[in-house]
Amino acid sequence: MNLLTIIGVILPTLAIIGTQWGDEGKGKITDYLAEGADMVVRFQGGANAGHTIKIGEEVIALHLLPSGMVRPDVISVIGNGVVIDCEEMGKEIEGLKRSGRAVDGLRISDRANIVMPYHRLLDGAEERARGSKGVGTTGRGIGPCYSDKMARSGIRMGDLLDEEYLRERLSSILPLKERLTESLGQPLEIDQEELLEKLLDYGKIYKNHIVDTSPIIYDAIQKGKRVMFEGAQGTMLDIDYGTYPYVTSSNCTSAGICSGAGIPPSMIEEVVGVMKAYTTRVGAGPFVTELKDEVGERLLHQGMEFGTTTGRPRRCGWLDLVVVRHAVRLNGLTSLAVTKLDVLNDMDTIKVCVAYEIDGQRVENFPGSIAKLERARPIYEELKGWKAWSEDTVALCRKGYSALPEEMRNFITYVEQRTGVKVGIVSVGKGRDETIDLRETRWSK
Ligand code: IMP
Repeated sequence: MNLLTIIGVILPTLAIIGTQWGDEGKGKITDYLAEGADMVVRFQGGANAGHTIKIGEEVIALHLLPSGMVRPDVISVIGNGVVIDCEEMGKEIEGLKRSGRAVDGLRISDRANIVMPYHRLLDGAEERARGSKGVGTTGRGIGPCYSDKMARSGIRMGDLLDEEYLRERLSSILPLKERLTESLGQPLEIDQEELLEKLLDYGKIYKNHIVDTSPIIYDAIQKGKRVMFEGAQGTMLDIDYGTYPYVTSSNCTSAGICSGAGIPPSMIEEVVGVMKAYTTRVGAGPFVTELKDEVGERLLHQGMEFGTTTGRPRRCGWLDLVVVRHAVRLNGLTSLAVTKLDVLNDMDTIKVCVAYEIDGQRVENFPGSIAKLERARPIYEELKGWKAWSEDTVALCRKGYSALPEEMRNFITYVEQRTGVKVGIVSVGKGRDETIDLRETRWSK
């Protein structure tokens, strides 16, 4: 008999996952839904993420800390699947404190791996070595840190609290790093004692936050608390199912929740997929619906598509439903949150990619082969835009869904029909009040 049957109810948990290449507006949706949350958990990625939250006139950009940190009374958890840059985390914590927010509710997994100074260095050196085939990483040391985790050469948050063990670990790991950085033409002479001191200092700073987080999350769920899992990046950047090798180094799909937060699959009730009304990606790699024309430029500027973490302009293109259907299946999406519809306000018509043509064949499922993707041509369907719409979005949202322009509602229905998933949230601006909520679930606000 499974746990859910024993306690007789389905547990109120909810996961938020990006359906594209990240930057879908997860920060806003997470913040919006976090109003009903007791706990917000990050389970993968690191300071490569960029979640922007707008509260009134205040704009907060978080990279590493869970979005729940901006809300009082919410416990925020950084799970074991996250890689932690202690310095970046310190800056974010200081920023929140300066804005008058408490950070006592932060729990950090003792099993989470640490991004070390040499990881950042290696990230840059590896990118340079790849030359024109570079991934276009954020340069935050993410790949090298996850590589070390898998190679069993990582340092974990819990290690910061045990001087003797930490010294031992550094003694066995650092010589390898020195040889590696030297072979990449970036010799790094690491002063072990200096690094040890620095890490022990972090240990002192974070000691009240470092705990075994899996039982905390598990117990909260069992007690019927509302627990939200906040994904970073997006399905197409998933290490297994994204556009490999042009991906990040973690599982950004809902599968990553179980390993990255330490909870069983049976404890995930709702999975909300965040989908931007068009597509963007940063960094290199295939992008079938990319627009290198005036329409792409319009999306870039109207959508303010510049990276939160790196400031890089994002590549822009039409909505790709081959990508979104891939995300629906992999994540088991129970609903979609459609964002940035307002960015399409100007368009006479809106194109949506429904399949690819590869070597003369119609392809419906997202291919694993990069070579095939590079030959893929989008098959588009065209919908009428909502060009004439100029109403104040906040006022419009107060009136509800039926007040939205007919063409916008048609677009939403079209997405539902083509993906087989209901749209639960419609977002037409950055603010919390520029949102229409159509969900009929237990995770109400
Ligand atoms: P990394 O995660 O820094 O190793 O970068 C690998 C790829 O993922 C690059 O193409 C990055 O631009 C992309 N990436 C990483 N984090 C994000 C994100 O939060 N949003 C969008 N793209 C990201």
